[in-house]
Amino acid sequence: MPYIADCRITTHQEVAPEHYRLVVHAPQLAKEAQPGQFCMLQVREGHYPFLRRPMSIERIFADGVSFLYKVVGEGTRMLSGMSQGQMLNVQGPLGKPFPRESGFDRYIITAGGIGIAPFPALADALKRELGKAPEVIIAARTERFLLCEKDFRQMGCKVHFATDDGSAGEKAFASEVLKRLSPAAGTVVYACGPMPMMKATHAVCAAAGAVCYASLEAEMACGDGVCLGCVVEANVEVETERMVRVCKDGPVFDTQLIQWESY
Ligand SMILES: Cc1cc2nc3c(=O)[nH]c(=O)nc-3n(C[C@H](O)[C@H](O)[C@H](O)COP(=O)(O)OP(=O)(O)OC[C@H]3O[C@@H](n4cnc5c(N)ncnc54)[C@H](O)[C@@H]3O)c2cc1C
Ligand code: FES
Repeated sequence: MPYIADCRITTHQEVAPEHYRLVVHAPQLAKEAQPGQFCMLQVREGHYPFLRRPMSIERIFADGVSFLYKVVGEGTRMLSGMSQGQMLNVQGPLGKPFPRESGFDRYIITAGGIGIAPFPALADALKRELGKAPEVIIAARTERFLLCEKDFRQMGCKVHFATDDGSAGEKAFASEVLKRLSPAAGTVVYACGPMPMMKATHAVCAAAGAVCYASLEAEMACGDGVCLGCVVEANVEVETERMVRVCKDGPVFDTQLIQWESY
């Protein structure tokens, strides 16, 4: 069940240029949260900016959760100005988590840019619950935006890098690195990043017969299934519509369900 609560910021650090990690004290939320779920953060008191901003849960601790975010506009700029000790209003956990099914041979995480955000919690859960440390592909524009490497290595994950400029790992897209890892039937791939990257990841998985779950991006107003501001086109009818709500039906979807043509 989602909560709305004022939570104290216990840590707030810049981890790369314009990228921040924010930890809040929120024991109840942490008890309920699942990897892949998100929270709506009220970036400022009062009415402006009016909307809360959706952020994936990065890590789940005993007494709180962390978020990893990139400054892209006014809301995230305001969030970056908040200090340790201040109260942040948090609504969550929201949305459907990543499925964590046993019985697969391989588990591969594919992240583009700030799409890395939901994956430390997922890798941790896969390791603890299934005894499988996933392989992780971290892709970014350039080396200094490759985040969370240390966290994944500490969990025993094999990490592959891809950068647009070749400054670390392969000069390649995440989907190209994934293809070279030869996913097959018996592989489950988890993806998060820009829509074209997830589209390409879906194509690699579909060709290989691998299962693929992606956490989709969409601008959100209510975050709770009401406003229909976050719909994306589906391949199949869901409750008589060919649309799904990213906030309520997702943000995590089996990529077979999504109509990727327009991306
Ligand atoms: C389920 C979910 C989880 C998310 N998790 C994270 C996360 O963990 N870390 C993180 O950094 N960001 C995450 N985002 C994206 C984040 O919510 C947006 O970057 C943020 O709301 C932008 O707010 P703003 O006021 O700074 O920018 P705005 O001024 O609102 O927009 C600035 C620019 O960003 C674009 N934009 C705004 N919102 C989104 C969005 N949701 N998706 C794609 N483009 C957008 C706008 O079109 C505009 O071009 C997530 C989004 C969703 C839907
Ligand atoms: S954000 Fe309102 S329905 Fe999804």
